[in-house]
Amino acid sequence: MKLGFIGGGYVGLVSAAGYASLGHNCQVIDIDKKKVDAINNAVAPIYEEGLDELLKKITVSKHLVASTNYSDLANCELIFICVGTPSGKDGSINLSYIKSCAEQLGKMIKLQDNFPIIAVKSTVVPKTTQSVVLPLLENHSGKKAGVDFGIAMVPEFLKEGSALSDFNSPDRIVIGVNDKKSSDALKKLHSHFKCEILEVPLATAELIKYASNSFLATKISFINQIANLCDVLGLDVDDVAKGMGLDSRIGKQFLKAGPGFGGSCFPKDVKALMHFSSQNGIAPTILESVMGVNYLQPQRMLKLALEATGGGPANLIGKTVSVLGLAFKPDTDDCRESPAIPLVEELLKMNCKIQAYDPKGIDNFKKLFPNLQYAKDMESALAKSHACFIVTDWKEFKKPISYYESKMAFPLIIDSRRILDAKTKAKAIYRAIGKGGTS
Ligand SMILES: NC(=O)c1ccc[n+]([C@@H]2O[C@H](COP(=O)([O-])OP(=O)(O)OC[C@H]3O[C@@H](n4cnc5c(N)ncnc54)[C@H](O)[C@@H]3O)[C@@H](O)[C@H]2O)c1
Repeated sequence: MKLGFIGGGYVGLVSAAGYASLGHNCQVIDIDKKKVDAINNAVAPIYEEGLDELLKKITVSKHLVASTNYSDLANCELIFICVGTPSGKDGSINLSYIKSCAEQLGKMIKLQDNFPIIAVKSTVVPKTTQSVVLPLLENHSGKKAGVDFGIAMVPEFLKEGSALSDFNSPDRIVIGVNDKKSSDALKKLHSHFKCEILEVPLATAELIKYASNSFLATKISFINQIANLCDVLGLDVDDVAKGMGLDSRIGKQFLKAGPGFGGSCFPKDVKALMHFSSQNGIAPTILESVMGVNYLQPQRMLKLALEATGGGPANLIGKTVSVLGLAFKPDTDDCRESPAIPLVEELLKMNCKIQAYDPKGIDNFKKLFPNLQYAKDMESALAKSHACFIVTDWKEFKKPISYYESKMAFPLIIDSRRILDAKTKAKAIYRAIGKGGTS
């Protein structure tokens, strides 16, 4: 099939690459010329394991081509909208990219004789596809949905860091549709995936995505609050999470305590669902608490450091401090809403000399904090520092504590992800979120 993807970011590019690897001809459209050029040169503009290698194959075979020109979507059977849907200032969804994309698509459809199916993959609040995208497409094309073109909503569930394998082995595929032709085409496209395909109305598909992300975020805030209680009680949150997760009704996943959730999805999606619920007369009380816990959680890292050095900021002010992990989770370069951001802001207020390091996220973090000192590797980040904050659980940070001790001037280690083994320490002051009693 000839498939179109509007937006060559984490979702659009990975999906296009995935379908191209299955033999489809994929056209990516992005307004960012630099991204387009990079993709055509087989250099992924984002870090995702395996993506560069895959791009090399599918750009050479011309199964994937990128451009800035919507007219290159001509004759696509299915076109996926994959542009960003960031948060507005009040937490509501900002639909400006979606609207601009729908307008340009409408103009493109005007010139088409086939029956293109437009499927929204971006995360959008319920009724956006029906009440915002569809009218813009009709107005700008002069054509009728269901008669001249199809409309669908296919939420995306891939996770950054394992996006390509998630593409190949999805847990489920949700298809929101209005018309039979779109339903048939989407079912055919997804027929070889070995998972359930759930067909639902458009707005249900939209809400499934928000409800899923908000539920996972709730699990994280829940276990983070239990972790903070463990700190006070001298207990280990991983033991508690294990005991909970063995109950199949609860499940093991997303019970990993830490410095709070970040990334381009959970914070903005929870906020958008809160705003949308309120607008519809349903008070989002649970989600307010989820965001409340998450807002405070990065501060736990600093609190543990200050408690360990006598309670006040005096022992950290002006000191050299290592921050290991800038991306919001390992195996990605995405730093959006990373817990490292509020931590760095607090450390800067204390005039700390920060030595920051991340295996993949430095370029993106630099856009937020251009003047930090970025280390070329973990060793230089630790050199002569008085405190080290492990924010992201990259594998390479998992070393014996004696390694940290040998590089640092004063080995105060705050391990927000509990990746180090306290047994390997000699002189370090080691504190970990949810591991009460570590010293
Ligand atoms: N990143 C994830 O893990 C993930 C997972 C599931 C769903 N989503 C959702 O998918 C959507 C996209 O997320 P993302 O992380 O890929 O975003 P992204 O910011 O990485 O990529 C979006 C791309 O769209 C391009 N763009 C913006 N306006 C455009 C336009 N009018 N025409 C063409 N291109 C345009 C941008 O230049 C950018 O490259 C969001 O709604 C997000 O919530 C993201």
